[in-house]
Amino acid sequence: MNKSLPTFARPEGGALTAEMLAAYEDAGVIILTDFVSADACAALRQRTLELIDDFDPSTVDTVFSTQTDEHQADEYFIGSGDKIRFFLEDGAVDDTGQLRAAKEDCLNKIGHAMHDLDPVFDAFSRTPELANAARSIGFKDPAIIQSMYIFKSPRIGGEVVCHQDSAYIYTEPESCVGFWFALEDATIDNGCMHFIPGGHESPLRKRNHRYADGSILDEVLDETPFPMHLRQPAEAPAGSLVIFDGRAPHMSGPNRSEKSRHAYTLHVIDRSCHYPADNWLQRGDDLPLRGFDN
Ligand code: FE2
Repeated sequence: MNKSLPTFARPEGGALTAEMLAAYEDAGVIILTDFVSADACAALRQRTLELIDDFDPSTVDTVFSTQTDEHQADEYFIGSGDKIRFFLEDGAVDDTGQLRAAKEDCLNKIGHAMHDLDPVFDAFSRTPELANAARSIGFKDPAIIQSMYIFKSPRIGGEVVCHQDSAYIYTEPESCVGFWFALEDATIDNGCMHFIPGGHESPLRKRNHRYADGSILDEVLDETPFPMHLRQPAEAPAGSLVIFDGRAPHMSGPNRSEKSRHAYTLHVIDRSCHYPADNWLQRGDDLPLRGFDN
């Protein structure tokens, strides 16, 4: 029988209780409702609208496809590890090069260093509650290596196929954990994430490498298929935090509804682990990694 995903109200102070920790370690994922306030979500959305206002899509020729690797040869994408850059959805641009909908509704995501470069994102990403949550799941020296604002726009937001984040944010030993915030209600209808409970205890299937010639390719480590029939929806009301292990297999369907599904996500690694130079995501020496503390 399928197990639903563990869901709890936000723990006081942010640190997971023993019961929550056991559930997280069992499933590889936990949903904590009411972790951030409606005001904090609204402030992040408002700041994002301002950033979008300043974004001129005609200066960018990139489409982020979650189903193919089209974006992977693109310097605009590869060089975004220490920048704030904007990625359009597949199909958002028509044959004449015009956007099919409002700018906000044509974006797939913004990434990958807002948490270090923008004061509003910085404040959202670094709170005592988050620091406590990270410490409680075992981080000794957490470092936020990536942030993404994900739009999942009505009718346009695309599918994300099943994957493990440690394939892309690989450390030795593995330490990647995702901190995913629902800025709006995430439901089955508008393309919430799905997880395979316990799948984090199965092998890492792929490792993504960035090669000297600029190409980015997946190395297959294990061909065991993901047991997709066990997947469970991670429906999450606005304000929820979903914490998930870097090996946890997850995916999301397309958004065929009329409602957007904005989310903000942080990826965290432990600084004591080795971060390979051939991970695609790199940052310059002028933007050193920081943790959750201000
Ligand atoms: Fe992911």
